[in-house]
Amino acid sequence: MIPQDFIQQLLDRTDIVEVVDRYVPLKKKGANYQACCPFHHEKTPSFTVSPVKQFYHCFGCGAHGTAISFLMEHVGMDFPEAVRELASRSGLEVPEDGQGRRPEDGRRDEWLAIMDAAARYYQERLKASEKAVRYLKGRGLTGETAARFLLGYAPEDWQGLAAGVDNYQDTRLEEMGLVILGEGKRYDRFRDRVMFPIRNERGRVIAFGGRVLGAGEPKYLNSPETPLFHKGRELYGLHENRRGIQASGHALVVEGYMDVVMLAQHGVQNAVATLGTAVTPDHVAKVFRLVDRVVFAFDGDAAGRKAAWRALENALPQLPDGKEAAFVFLPEGEDPDSYVRSQGPDALRTLCTQAKPLSDFLFDSLQAQTDMSSQEGRVRLVKLMEPLLAQMKAGPLLSRSLRARLAQVTGVGVTEGRRPSSPRTGRPPLRRDMLASPQRLLIQALLTKPERALDLQERPPVQGQDGAALEWLLEFIQGHPGVGARDLVEAARTCDFGHLIASAAANMIRWEANEQDEIDYQGAMASFREQWAQSELDRLNRIPLSQLSPEDRQRMVQVLRIKKLDQMNRIKGE
Ligand code: CTP
Ligand code: MN
Repeated sequence: MIPQDFIQQLLDRTDIVEVVDRYVPLKKKGANYQACCPFHHEKTPSFTVSPVKQFYHCFGCGAHGTAISFLMEHVGMDFPEAVRELASRSGLEVPEDGQGRRPEDGRRDEWLAIMDAAARYYQERLKASEKAVRYLKGRGLTGETAARFLLGYAPEDWQGLAAGVDNYQDTRLEEMGLVILGEGKRYDRFRDRVMFPIRNERGRVIAFGGRVLGAGEPKYLNSPETPLFHKGRELYGLHENRRGIQASGHALVVEGYMDVVMLAQHGVQNAVATLGTAVTPDHVAKVFRLVDRVVFAFDGDAAGRKAAWRALENALPQLPDGKEAAFVFLPEGEDPDSYVRSQGPDALRTLCTQAKPLSDFLFDSLQAQTDMSSQEGRVRLVKLMEPLLAQMKAGPLLSRSLRARLAQVTGVGVTEGRRPSSPRTGRPPLRRDMLASPQRLLIQALLTKPERALDLQERPPVQGQDGAALEWLLEFIQGHPGVGARDLVEAARTCDFGHLIASAAANMIRWEANEQDEIDYQGAMASFREQWAQSELDRLNRIPLSQLSPEDRQRMVQVLRIKKLDQMNRIKGE
C-alpha cells in the first residue's frame, strides 16, 4: 500500500486543473473550470473542476474524483501508475515499499526503453525502404497516417535490429520477443515486415504486429505475450484514437490493424482493434471506461458471425445498465478498411448508427436456432437464454427487461433474476434537489472543514446510507488528522460510499460561497441534538415517574432544556 500521508502530500503538490487540462482543455467559469465531460457524450459542459477543492465532478453523469482518479479513469492508468505519474511531475519519490514502486518497475522502464528504440529503428528503416513504402502507398496509405501510427519496416536482415539497440546480446531483447534464440544463434523475430507498433494507453510501445509485404505466411506476426504485453487486454489504436472515441461518443471495435489505420486516415477516428484474438471481457471493460457505447464490426460471413457471438458472450458480464453494445455486419468479403475506401466514411458511420443492438442480436441468433412455432422450441429458447442472462451481473435492469422480452416471445413465465440493487459501479443520476438529511448536511460540513470531526463530542445516530457514510467519514478523519476534502474524496473512491461522498462534495462545488456552510453545520448538529433529546425523552417517559432515579431526573431536565433551546433558536431564525 502507498501510505495515505504520501497521497496527501502528493495531492498537495498537484494542481488538478493543470492535470486535467492536459487531456481535456478547460475553460474558467466563475471560481471553477469547466469542459464537456470526457466521461460521457454531451454538448453543454457539465464537467466541473474546482481548483479550491481539488476535485472534479460531472453534474451530468456523476463522474467525480481527484487528480489521481482522473488519470485512472480517463487516461487508463492503474493506481500506482497514476501516483507515479503525479509524483514524477512534482519531484516526489514514491515510497519504495509495497505497491508504490514494485521491484519490476525499474525493469519495466528498461523494457519500455528497448521497445522504444526498436520502434524508432523500424520507423527509420521504413523511410529507407523503397519497397515497403511502395507497399503501403499501394494500399492507399499516406505518409502522414504512417507517421501518426509510427509505422515502420523490419528489414530482411537476420540481425538488423542490432543497428537499432545498444546491445544486441541483451537478454531483454528476447524477453520482449524482439529476438529469437535458436541453436545458439540470436536473430530478429521480425524480418521483412511492415511494423505496427502496439502502444498502451499512455502511448508507450509495448509490442509489435508485423505484416508481410504482399503474400506470405503468416500474414501477421505479433509479439508474444511478454511482461509488457498481454494481448487479451490491449486494443490497437486506443492511444491514437482516444480523443476521437470520446468525441464521437462511441468506440468501433474492428479486427485488424489496417482497419484502424485506414479508418483514421478517412476521418473515422474512433476505431480500435483486438490483436488477433476474440474480444475479451477485459477489452470490453476497457472501452466502457472511456465511452458509453461500443459498436463491434465484423464480417458478414459465418466466421464473422461466430466472432460476433464470442464478443457478445464476453460483453454480457461487462455491460452496465445505461451502456450499450451493438453489432455491425459488413457485406461479405469486405472489412472496414476496404469498405471505407470503396464506400467512404459516411457510409460507414451510417452503418454504425444502424448497428444491431446487443439485445436484438442475442434474440435473433438464438431464435434462429430454435423452432419458435413449437412449444418445445420456445422452451428451448428459454434454456439457451437463461445462462446468458444470468451472467449480466453489471446490468440488472437490462437483464430484467430481456427476461420480460423472453417471457413475451416464448409465453414461458421466466423466473426473476436477483432484484436490481443499485450497482456500485454504475453512476446513479444525481438527485439534485433532494432535501438533505442532517446526516448529509453534516457530511458536507465535514468535507468543508474536516477538523470539525475532531470536536464532535458524540457520534450522531447511524441511519441509512447517509448515516453509514457519515460514520465512515468520521472514522477516517479521526484516523488521519489534517486531511482535506480532496483527500476524503480520494480515499472514499474505493469505499462503499464513494458516490455519496462525492455527490455531497459536488454540492460544495456548486455553492462556492459557503456562508451557508456554518449554518448547515449548526443546523445538522442541532438536529442531532434534538433527535438524541427526543429519544432520551421517549425512553424516560416510559419509566413511571415514581421510579425515576435522580440521574434520570437530571437527564430529563437536560433533555427538555435542549429541546427548548432548539425551539427558541428556530423561532429566532425564522
Ligand atoms: N491476425 C494475426 N495473425 C494472422 C492473421 C491475422 O494476428 N496470421 C490478426 C491481425 O491483428 C489482423 C487481424 O487478425 O490485423 C485481422 O486479420 P485479417 O482479416 O486476415 O487481416 P486484415 O486486418 O484484413 O489485414 P490486411 O488488410 O493487411 O490483409
Ligand atoms: Mn484487410
